[in-house]
Amino acid sequence: MTATYDRDDFLTDFGDLPLTANIDFGLLHAVLEASRDLKEKKYDHAWSTRLRRLTELHDNGVTDIATILSVMTRESTSRYTPVVDDIAQQINIDLGDFAAQDLGGKKLVASHGRYVLTDHTQRLPTAMDLLAPLVPSDADVVVEFGGGWGRNLAGLCHGLGRRDITYINCEPSPSGRAAFDTIFSHAGGVRARSREFRFESPDMGFLGEFSSVFAFSWAAIEQTPFLPVDFVDRILGAAGSVTFAMYEPVGWQQFTNITQFVLFKILEELVGGVAEADHHGRRYVYRFADALFHDNAASWAVACRYNTNLLRCVRRVVEAGRARLIGIQYDLHGDNPVNPYTLLAVTKD
Ligand SMILES: C[S@@+](CC[C@H](N)C(=O)[O-])C[C@H]1O[C@@H](n2cnc3c(N)ncnc32)[C@H](O)[C@@H]1O
Repeated sequence: MTATYDRDDFLTDFGDLPLTANIDFGLLHAVLEASRDLKEKKYDHAWSTRLRRLTELHDNGVTDIATILSVMTRESTSRYTPVVDDIAQQINIDLGDFAAQDLGGKKLVASHGRYVLTDHTQRLPTAMDLLAPLVPSDADVVVEFGGGWGRNLAGLCHGLGRRDITYINCEPSPSGRAAFDTIFSHAGGVRARSREFRFESPDMGFLGEFSSVFAFSWAAIEQTPFLPVDFVDRILGAAGSVTFAMYEPVGWQQFTNITQFVLFKILEELVGGVAEADHHGRRYVYRFADALFHDNAASWAVACRYNTNLLRCVRRVVEAGRARLIGIQYDLHGDNPVNPYTLLAVTKD
């Protein structure tokens, strides 16, 4: 059952923005549910391919986490021309600052708030790079929300090498959970489990048995346009000591005018009866110039119906003194250059 995101929630999140006049919240709720179902089906399909491959590897005796991760990473390499192909096929591109450059063999990515051309061999940031330094030494559970097939938790389990931690994958898709269970089924002595979970109705009761929680999301909260307003509080209330890290594409949410634009477009396109041919994502041209970095990221958020309120949820708990901000690095990296990821972390002890 999905929680209702209603007018009061909207005002809590966006009361400073003059947008509430004509929104039919009942209709919005129904459309959001339908869109959530579609996204879930898409991921269930995607992770079923990973599950098949993992089962194959296991049947062939490949059960070691490090080997599994290296095989799976090698097999999912993308083509870049210079924007990663599956994104380039979906958007209108103007190479802007890069139009006159020799692009031969390079890929165009977002890095630290700018567009850069890099070598194909450049490795993407991993959970070990960004999250491991944030895991408290006394953590007894590491939980990922929207953990997909489990690559981040598997990487942390292998990299941290800690057997005193329980690893939990909270994930809506059955195939993602089954893939995670397969990876960990031979990780001798490691406590691991997966759970059905949705950001829209987050029940944290299962964390009650732990004393120090490290929770994170990685490219997953993005899937939910409107988080429940008390989402971060619910996580922080799950145990005595909680650290929550988020690696999500929210850099554009720093800017009120851009947030207002994204909200206006998403609402207009979801419940305002705008013809699909006139949707922003169909018409917008992504011009690769640093001055347009956040306009481009915001336009991608509109097109994908990405999250609009995570930064506001985090800001609220920090400003009210219910958590301390222990890390914030805006627009660190985006292999898809129009979807740069920001690292945020809060703690409560
Ligand atoms: C881009 S994938 C990222 C998966 C994983 N975090 C990773 O980095 O490999 C997004 C994940 O969010 C999950 N997801 C989609 N909608 C969700 C929702 N409403 N609640 C929780 N998770 C959701 C998907 O099933 C998928 O596993």
